Amino acid sequence: MKLNLGCGDQIPQGWTNVDYALGAKFAKIPLFSSANRRLKLFNIEWDKEIHVHDLTTRFPWHDGQAECVYSSHTLEHFTREEGLVFLKECHRVLKKDGVIRIVVPDLRVIVENYLNDDIKAVHFLEELGVLYAGVRGRIKSKLARFIQFPHKCMYDSEALLSVMSEIGFKCEQKKVFSSHIKDIALVEREVRAQNAVIVEGRKH
Ligand SMILES: C[S@@+](CC[C@H](N)C(=O)[O-])C[C@H]1O[C@@H](n2cnc3c(N)ncnc32)[C@H](O)[C@@H]1O
Repeated sequence: MKLNLGCGDQIPQGWTNVDYALGAKFAKIPLFSSANRRLKLFNIEWDKEIHVHDLTTRFPWHDGQAECVYSSHTLEHFTREEGLVFLKECHRVLKKDGVIRIVVPDLRVIVENYLNDDIKAVHFLEELGVLYAGVRGRIKSKLARFIQFPHKCMYDSEALLSVMSEIGFKCEQKKVFSSHIKDIALVEREVRAQNAVIVEGRKH
């Protein structure tokens, strides 16, 4: 089993794609997709095959069941404590020598962009992703708290390497598509690797 955790609309075949968004839950309801296309409640077309699970809680898989875990732009949506629970669960469900690969926005890049005047002070929090983004329409803005996941903890390469090593992974920083995961090109998106930190670890 290959786990893609916090998949969003990145749902490669052959992977168990997991998310907890309202859209992923609603997608299981017959006719929801066509209604969503008309009402445009959700920006993305959620796939009904997504495995719905809150990744801040115990995973529904057995110890050592997964050959690899991929998670892109998701860890930063958890508090530091939730992130630790999440990474411990990844460690538990991975088999020995299994690979974990985590991609997060690089806090250092955002701060450097601010210091270089590429990000203005008034836009800094938006760039950090810690706010609920403004949406048009009353229904959508009422739903914002249920359909948006602002960032709750930020990482740079040092912080991500440190927390993953703390959990027990043997880790290194990686570049886009450079991986021990054979079909990485199926699950990784180049655009998501820009201004991001990628750390890959192995359970030993
Ligand atoms: C920024 S998106 C990343 C989507 C995709 N992996 C990518 O890189 O484009 C973060 C995803 O994490 C999901 N997510 C946030 N909190 C979650 C939770 N507690 N359990 C499961 N998924 C969660 C969101 O629904 C969203 O799809």
